[in-house]
Amino acid sequence: MGKITVRTEKKRFPIAPNLYGIFFEDINRAGDGGLYPELLRNRSFEDSIEPKDCRTGQDGYALVSRAGWRDEFNHGEGLSRWVRKNGTPYTPIPAWYTNHAQMALDRNDTLNPHRQVSLAVSFEEGGELYNTGFCGIAPKAGEKYLFYMFARTEAPVKIRVSVEEDGHEFGGMDFLLEGGGYVRYDGSFTAEGDGRNARLVIRCPEGGKVNFGFCSLMPEDTYMGHGLRRDLVEKLRDMNPRFLRFPGGCIVEGFSPETAMQFKNVVGPVWERPGHQLMWHYRSYNGLGFHEYLQLCEDLDMEPLYVCNCGMTCQGRSPEFFEGEELASMLQDTLDAIEYAVGDKTSRWGSLRAKMGHPEPFRLTYIEIGNENSGPAYEARYQMFYDAIRARYPHIRLIANTHLEEQGLGADIVDEHYYSTAEFFAENVNFYDKYDRKKPKIFLGELAVVRGWVGQLYGALGEAAFLVGMERNQDVVELASYAPLLENVDYNAWFPNLIRFNNRESIAIPTYYVWKMFGNNRGENVVEADVETGTLYRPVKGMASLMGQAGLRYRNASWNKTPVGISHELMGRVKEEEGVSRILPPDEEQRAEAETLHRVDKDRVFVVFGEEQVTSGVFDIEIYAEEGREICLGVYSGRMPKEVYMADETHPPKEWNAANVKPFLWTLEKGISTFREQKFPSDRNLDEERKAELRYGEFNHFRYEADGKQMKLYVNGECIHQVDVPSFPSLSSVVCDSPKEVILKIVNMSPEEDAVEISLDCEVEDAYEVILLTGEKQAENSFEEPEKVHDVVQNHSGASSHFYYGAPAYSVNVLRLAKIQVQ
Ligand code: AHR
Repeated sequence: MGKITVRTEKKRFPIAPNLYGIFFEDINRAGDGGLYPELLRNRSFEDSIEPKDCRTGQDGYALVSRAGWRDEFNHGEGLSRWVRKNGTPYTPIPAWYTNHAQMALDRNDTLNPHRQVSLAVSFEEGGELYNTGFCGIAPKAGEKYLFYMFARTEAPVKIRVSVEEDGHEFGGMDFLLEGGGYVRYDGSFTAEGDGRNARLVIRCPEGGKVNFGFCSLMPEDTYMGHGLRRDLVEKLRDMNPRFLRFPGGCIVEGFSPETAMQFKNVVGPVWERPGHQLMWHYRSYNGLGFHEYLQLCEDLDMEPLYVCNCGMTCQGRSPEFFEGEELASMLQDTLDAIEYAVGDKTSRWGSLRAKMGHPEPFRLTYIEIGNENSGPAYEARYQMFYDAIRARYPHIRLIANTHLEEQGLGADIVDEHYYSTAEFFAENVNFYDKYDRKKPKIFLGELAVVRGWVGQLYGALGEAAFLVGMERNQDVVELASYAPLLENVDYNAWFPNLIRFNNRESIAIPTYYVWKMFGNNRGENVVEADVETGTLYRPVKGMASLMGQAGLRYRNASWNKTPVGISHELMGRVKEEEGVSRILPPDEEQRAEAETLHRVDKDRVFVVFGEEQVTSGVFDIEIYAEEGREICLGVYSGRMPKEVYMADETHPPKEWNAANVKPFLWTLEKGISTFREQKFPSDRNLDEERKAELRYGEFNHFRYEADGKQMKLYVNGECIHQVDVPSFPSLSSVVCDSPKEVILKIVNMSPEEDAVEISLDCEVEDAYEVILLTGEKQAENSFEEPEKVHDVVQNHSGASSHFYYGAPAYSVNVLRLAKIQVQ
């Protein structure tokens, strides 16, 4: 049974007002066709055009940067699995098709210098050109849709533009295109009936030739009339986010200079904004740009947090580092962006903002210099950006990607990203307890459970426990956001994402409700609270493994006294002779595979014994000890739960590989025994170093006993380490108050209800409100059951300065207790 003792008299510190925010990145086609509700895919006809500094390979399948990074391209359709899943018929110009008409890209006759092509169409009589949208267009009965296009013809041409599905026309517009230069044509219609898989059809009854320079179809009804999809913004609004981090993420970095983000490309009239190939396998038309993000911040009262490219492309994707003028122009681009946001309306960029309808400056509170960058190249660029921005805009809080204060550089805030398991987050509920308060503040810019309980209730509970720990340390953690935010389910590139949508509806994963509950229930001060709780152990599985230099010899391996053999040769091959096994060096195939894996040493051997499913037992082995050669035994050598995201599905890693097996490592070297856990970003000792003398030149006996809670490690009969399996509290809690209320957040990760004993140093009203999220451990939401797991508001009674609250199994609870005011 858990116990929480609350001392409202002991205020620890005020809450961090901007703690809960959101991070938007254009991934999973979150922008065009999503938050930015353009209904036409490839509205500028440029999707099949590779960036200037990349080439297409493998017959249009791949896009290769000049530094060698490869992405799936498929002639501009994006990932192969989208094409397969959506049954996208081949077209050289993505999303555009013809009947009785011929179409081609025209590179010589474009709408303006920022457009790379126009679409030249030659219609026969009754010929048609059509666009299939983002997996169809879904008009809603009674809603108004706005259409415009820029078109040029030599002679007058009549066309009808309509939205149709299976012969039904939802609405249409007739245009007479004048001969001459490019002209903008506008029209609108109100949809008759609901559609799911409609297309926009441009029909030419009498035939003719037309060059289309740019076109667009959007719903008139958007959030506050500012052009963004209503249901999605409403979901964001309901989280009560205090800041918006934008526009990325990796897309800020790009995988080549042209694909790196630049502010200049994402402002001004949308048809003048150059398109831009994104890291996440498709092109953005950049209609959702700097101004639109700032407007969204204003509409939801969020502090803007702009991430700028700091003169380098993504370090995980064959990076390029900008120098000289190129670098200077990236810095200038960031300074221009700031001027656009906060400059006077008479300034160069402030005047463009005014022209775009916002004469008053926006707020710009935070700037993050780069995304996930590190190392000396980053440090040099960071310093340059930091100095330039700080000198001109001292009020802006500057965020670094790594702990640069350790190199003596200035940073107000450091952005840390964590993608892991539910258990990792729960185990790290005390992560920031010992953080040096003199160091920069922390921004938890990206965090999510991406292995194991992905998108399910238990994943959300692990994250909730971590957020509770974060709230207990909000004197140092200033900001936090989940990642990624949005996913068009027909174009998934990453999973999970907080909010999922198709052309008609949107749903949220259980984690969304945690952020919503926590973001809306803040109080004013964090107060002292002691929590007594039970313990849950990390689920661990698998038998032993052996690692080290090639040539390692062993014999008589057994599990529970039964001989056991090698089940997986991850690196190196095992050869047996006369009862002794020797691990030979990794062969060419293994070395080549290791190249494609993250953080794998190509020269080390790594073999796994026996079954993966076992959780307890005794492993015995005799290993030949030689001076100068380490012996490394892995305990619990099962695979980590799979990550759902895969960069290039045509080269999937093997089911068992040297990167996805991360046992606890028991190492003996030079008479010293260590036992540690392999962890990102660095390993962690599970026990102190201990002396362990080996008999060199002979076989030594090693044993371990493991029962899911404890591990005991022996050499030649002597117990060297006795260590608990990592665990986490079944119950976590943080308490905040205000003059009128006490707010308790309680996360129960156990499979049983916990009758939590709550003691307070103040009197509270009997009646109280509970906001509850609970369900089955693996529960998740779907379009069929969109709210299987969601927050529920309940009215309870029986609160007092000492009472019991039953926190359901697998639950997140927010208790709002009204203080009785003493006169
Ligand atoms: O959130 C998805 C990606 O994860 C972000 O683009 C990047 O910053 C991180 O690696």
